[in-house]
Amino acid sequence: MAIVDPFKEHIYQPVHHEDSDLESPTSSEFIEHKPHRKSYISLVWPWIASTITFALISAYLLFQQQINGWSTCVTASPAFRTDFKDSHPYISYEERVYTGRFWYNETIGKVYRDVDPSEPQYFGLPSPEIDAAWDDLLRGEFVDMTEEEAAPFDADLNTDPTKHHYHMEPDMFHSLHCLNAIRMKLDSDYYSQHMGHHQTFNQRIQESPHFPDDWSRIHMDHCLDQLRQSIQCQGDMSPVPLYFFGGDHIGLGVGQTHTCRKWGPMRKWMDVRKERDDERGGKEVHTNDDQHSHEMHS
Ligand SMILES: *[C@@H]1O[C@H](CO)[C@@H](O)[C@H](O)[C@H]1NC(C)=O
Repeated sequence: MAIVDPFKEHIYQPVHHEDSDLESPTSSEFIEHKPHRKSYISLVWPWIASTITFALISAYLLFQQQINGWSTCVTASPAFRTDFKDSHPYISYEERVYTGRFWYNETIGKVYRDVDPSEPQYFGLPSPEIDAAWDDLLRGEFVDMTEEEAAPFDADLNTDPTKHHYHMEPDMFHSLHCLNAIRMKLDSDYYSQHMGHHQTFNQRIQESPHFPDDWSRIHMDHCLDQLRQSIQCQGDMSPVPLYFFGGDHIGLGVGQTHTCRKWGPMRKWMDVRKERDDERGGKEVHTNDDQHSHEMHS
């Protein structure tokens, strides 16, 4: 609300001013003294100026609304038409500084990656903690769709062969799924021993006659291209200034503040949907196996 009040003054004062002081004299003088071109122009100019001011303020407020997502002040959702409709109320924005940026330790004269120890870690040498962090990020990544929600898609969109439900995955989760797959590929020695719940899925792929022998490579290429398009699609133009450390001619990009969709509410929507899906699905709630059969889509 604090954001709106200062602008209210700017919007309403000129309009009010125009109503009381200008509009009635304009109409009467315009009719009565039509030949007096000079007074006509001098009366029209304030009207044009206030109209332009009003248009500029309106455009600015609209722009602000898209950036800030006034969930409490404005009823219109900042979501796009292409966002899954049911999730619209959970979409809002905030400014964030990314973690993990490069910095320079003056004492030891080395560049280091600045890790926030209060945050879960998603990268680094593979460990059960990192796997748990990813599992938490991606939990319930596949959402059931009602018949109505599935209707706009291709006529041959089909249901899964066991529960006969329509499924989808918000694309953010698709990209995260892909990023995790690439991460695991980087440490394939470790993950050949520690597949965990991914084991079932990999076995199914190997046993299926429908996947080519070089599926692992094709899956990686798909994932990399998914991330490329997602990044280009977001089009984040936040500047990443290049810092030079220790006299080297090597500049390292150090990210600053970004405008982000708030992760928390969107994660919450996934959990809310999951609960609803599980209720709809009766006793046949989702298991890891269900998830893995859907990983094929990713
Ligand atoms: C720089 O490195 C030293 C030695 O590892 C460490 O004790 C110190 O805390 C580091 N300083 C910063 C600012 O990270």
